[in-house]
Amino acid sequence: MFDPYKIREDFPILKRKINNHPLIYFDNAATSQKPKQVIEAIKEYYELHNANVHRAVHTLSLEATELYESAHEETAKFIGAESIEEIIFTKGTTEAINTVAYSWGLRNLKKGDEVLVTLMEHHSNIVPWEILSKIKGFKVRYIDVNKDGTLNQQALEEALSPKVKMVCVTHVSNVTGVINDVRHIAKLAHENNALILVDGAQSVPHIPINVKELDCDFLAFSGHKMLGPTGIGVLYGKREILEKMEPFHGGGEMIREVSYNPKNQSCKITWNDLPWKFEAGTPNICGGVGLMSAIKYLKNLGMDNAKAHECALTEYTIKRLQECEKVRVYGPKDTKVKCGIVPFNLEGFDSHDLALLLDTYGIMIRSGFHCAQPLHQRLELKSSARASFYIYNTKEEIDKFVEVLKEIEKSL
Ligand SMILES: Cc1ncc(COP(=O)(O)O)c(C=O)c1O
Repeated sequence: MFDPYKIREDFPILKRKINNHPLIYFDNAATSQKPKQVIEAIKEYYELHNANVHRAVHTLSLEATELYESAHEETAKFIGAESIEEIIFTKGTTEAINTVAYSWGLRNLKKGDEVLVTLMEHHSNIVPWEILSKIKGFKVRYIDVNKDGTLNQQALEEALSPKVKMVCVTHVSNVTGVINDVRHIAKLAHENNALILVDGAQSVPHIPINVKELDCDFLAFSGHKMLGPTGIGVLYGKREILEKMEPFHGGGEMIREVSYNPKNQSCKITWNDLPWKFEAGTPNICGGVGLMSAIKYLKNLGMDNAKAHECALTEYTIKRLQECEKVRVYGPKDTKVKCGIVPFNLEGFDSHDLALLLDTYGIMIRSGFHCAQPLHQRLELKSSARASFYIYNTKEEIDKFVEVLKEIEKSL
C-alpha cells in the first residue's frame, strides 16, 4: 500500500525543523529530497566499488563498470526503452536537450527550416534552440498556449508545415503542471516528417512513462528531480536516430580508435558503440548508481500510485486555497489535465516576499519565473509562487500551508 507517512521515514531531511517549525518541502519541481536508500547506495559505491569504468581490467573497475551499465539498464526498463543503447547519461535535462541540439541539430538544420517550441517550455528547451538558430539560420517558432496555460492545439496544427524539422515540447509544465498529450503531438510531428523531443523533467519523476507508447524520438530528464543525486540525467533517443547522429562532446570513452597517420599528420577517429559514443570523458559513475537506486525505489512504490497521490494532493490544495480570499490560483484546476504543481499569487504580495514569509514558518516553495519567463509573459504574470508535491507530502502539510496563508492574509 502507498503510505506517504511510511515513505517519509526514509527521508532523513524531512525530520529537520526550519525556523522552529517542522520542514514542509513544497519545492519538488526544483529538486526532490533523497531517501536513505539512495544516500546509502552512493556511500556504498565510494566505500566499496570506486574505480573508473570501461578502462582497467582489475576487480574494482569491473565492479564499477557493472554498476554503471546496470544503471543504464534500470533506466531503460523504467521508461520502456528497447535497450541501454538508447540511454545516454548526461548531467541533467539541460545537457540532454543541448546534446540533441548540437549532435542532431547542428548537422540536420539549415536556413529555411523551423523548430517548433511551445510557449510553456522551461528555458532549457528554448535557449539551446535560439543559440543554434543564430549559427545555422533556421527559425524557432513558438506555439501559443491558452489563457489557462494549456497548449493551443489549433496553433500547433497550423504551425506544422514541411519546413518544421523538430517539435520540442514539455511533457508536464513546470509552472502549471499541465500534462501535454505527447502521444498525439508525436503523431502530428511524424505525419509532418518532423522529429519530436520531449522534455520529461517534470513527468518521468511523477507519472508512468513508456517511450514506445509515446512514440517520442527523444526524451530528456533529470535524476535529481526523481530522488536521485544532482549531476546525472538522461537522454533517451530512438536507436536508429542515435546511430546516425555524430557526438557533441569529444574525448576519451566515446571513441573506438584514434589512429595517427604520420604521413598526413592527422588522426582517423571511429566512434564507440551506443550509448558510450555520447558519453565522453569519465562519466558520473556514482550519479548513475544513485539514479539506479532512486529508480528502484520509485518502481517499488509504483508510478501509478505516485501519480494518484500527487493528483489527490493537487486537488486538495486547489480546493482548500479557495478559502483564501486573496489567493489566485493559475492554470487548469482539473487533475485530468494537470498534476502535482499549483502556481498561485497572494494579491498585493510579491512572490519572493511571500516565499520568504512562508520560509519563516518552515514552508519551502518556489517563487519568480521558474525558468519559464515566456509563459509568465503569456499569462500576464509578473511572477508566481509555486507549490509542487511529491510522494512524501501529506494533506496535513497542505492544511498547515493554507492556515499560514490565511494568517498572512489576515495580517495584510
Ligand atoms: C520542465 C523542465 N525542463 C528542464 C529543466 C532543467 O532541468 P536541469 O536543471 O536538471 O537540467 C527543469 C528544471 O526545473 C524543468 O522543470
